[in-house]
Amino acid sequence: MNPQTTVFELAGGAPAFHRLAQRFYEGVARDAVLRPMYPADLGESAHLLALFLIQFCGGPATYSQQKGHPRLRMRHLPFSIGQKERDAWVSHMKDALESEIENPQAREFLSQYFERTATFMMNR
Ligand code: HEM
Repeated sequence: MNPQTTVFELAGGAPAFHRLAQRFYEGVARDAVLRPMYPADLGESAHLLALFLIQFCGGPATYSQQKGHPRLRMRHLPFSIGQKERDAWVSHMKDALESEIENPQAREFLSQYFERTATFMMNR
C-alpha cells in the first residue's frame, strides 16, 4: 500500500462512508435487540457515524469540528452494551461492509477495527 493512501481514499471517499452508515442503520432498523436503543430518527445517527468514520480513516475532520473529541466509549456509557448487543452491531456492520466497500484492504481494515472497537464499547 502506498503509505500516503488513506483508508478514506481506498474505501471510496465520503460517499462510500455515507452509504456504509446508511446500510448499517437499515440493519439496525430491523433488529429487535438494537432498535430500541436508538432514537426514533436514525438519519442523524447514520450521519454522525459516517462523519466519525471519515475522520478516523484519514478524511476531513468534520466530526470533531461538530462534536469535539470522539470519546466513543464515554458516549456509549448511557447504553447497556453486552455481548448480545456487540455481536448484533458487528453482524450488521459486516453485512454493510460486504455491500458497500469493494476494496479488499479497506474492507479488511474496517472489519478488524469494528471487531475490536465494538468489544471495547461493551460496558456490562
Ligand atoms: C457495540 C455495540 C454498539 C452499540 C449497541 C451502539 C449503540 C449506539 C447508540 C444507541 C448510539 C446513540 C445513537 C445516536 O447518538 O445517534 C450510538 C452512537 C454512536 N456510535 Fe455506537 N454502538 C456500538 C458500537 C459502536 C462502534 C463500534 C462504533 C464505531 C466504531 C460506534 C460509533 C458511534 C458513533 C460515532 C455514535 C455517535 C456519537 C455522537 O457523536 O453522539 N458505535 N451508538
